[in-house]
Amino acid sequence: MLGSLEGGCALVYASGMAAIAAVFALVPVGGVVVVPDNAYNTTLSLADELLASGRLAEVRRVDVADTAAVTTAVRSEPHPQLVWLESPTNPLLDVADITALADATHQVGAIVVCDNTFATPILQQPLTLGADVVVHSVTKYLSGHSDVVLGAACAVDAQLLDRLRTHRTVHGSIAGPFETWLALRGIRTLPLRLERAGRSARVLADRLIGHPQVERVRYPGFGAIVSIEVAGGLDAADRVAGATRLWTNATSLGGVESLIERRRRHANEPTTVPVNLLRLSVGVEDVEDLWTDLERALDGAR
Ligand SMILES: Cc1ncc(COP(=O)(O)O)c(C=O)c1O
Repeated sequence: MLGSLEGGCALVYASGMAAIAAVFALVPVGGVVVVPDNAYNTTLSLADELLASGRLAEVRRVDVADTAAVTTAVRSEPHPQLVWLESPTNPLLDVADITALADATHQVGAIVVCDNTFATPILQQPLTLGADVVVHSVTKYLSGHSDVVLGAACAVDAQLLDRLRTHRTVHGSIAGPFETWLALRGIRTLPLRLERAGRSARVLADRLIGHPQVERVRYPGFGAIVSIEVAGGLDAADRVAGATRLWTNATSLGGVESLIERRRRHANEPTTVPVNLLRLSVGVEDVEDLWTDLERALDGAR
């Protein structure tokens, strides 16, 4: 089902990170990769770990929203073998021009990968835009109920799929059948959940722009994640996240219930992420209930 939604073939893994690790393993020993300067923190930690252990020769960090800068990084010698995109990025919600970056990447003979967890294939299909591999944390929107840990890698090229499948077999990162079945059931309501949560996210983003306790709102105009920077710094942001009752202060995202989290509380979060940034994963609750709870928590943090 996921393969047909993405326009390729999907392999499921025990987690999103298992799929991501399998894709990084496509890079030859001593290779060069280009990665976003903000993205899911453990993806970046994996790249750093591969560099520290000597498995990779270089990791180039780029702002994926800056097409010219990424293109320059891709064309610089030695050329990379893999360009990693996440779009929108977690948690700054930067959006990459996948088509232009896939073109530039292919010109130097490298492959381009896109983590499509935030957009889902309902809103964006990177394979049809030129990406070679799409990865997902199926744990998030695809499953949708915060009760599954699962990942996927999608591709069209038979050789890439073969290498990914072999890596999965020999590393034992195969998915459990029950998790896979739960994800299959979750995907059946994906368009409905995303439509509702996306509509609410737009309403909330508009209202948050006008709130005096909010310094900045990041929302790319689609999807159901909104990131805000709270006036008053780290402590004020922690007070907001601790004061909501309907929004649960927890990590993860993409479930039917709304979650709020200050991302820099994680030691491996990129320093490009402001300390006062809260990531809001908008769920399917009534939007007025969500606003009332958030507004009360923001007012109380003053
Ligand atoms: C964008 C993104 N990719 C990958 C992952 C990792 O997925 P998993 O938690 O299923 O290993 C996450 C987890 O938060 C994520 O947000």
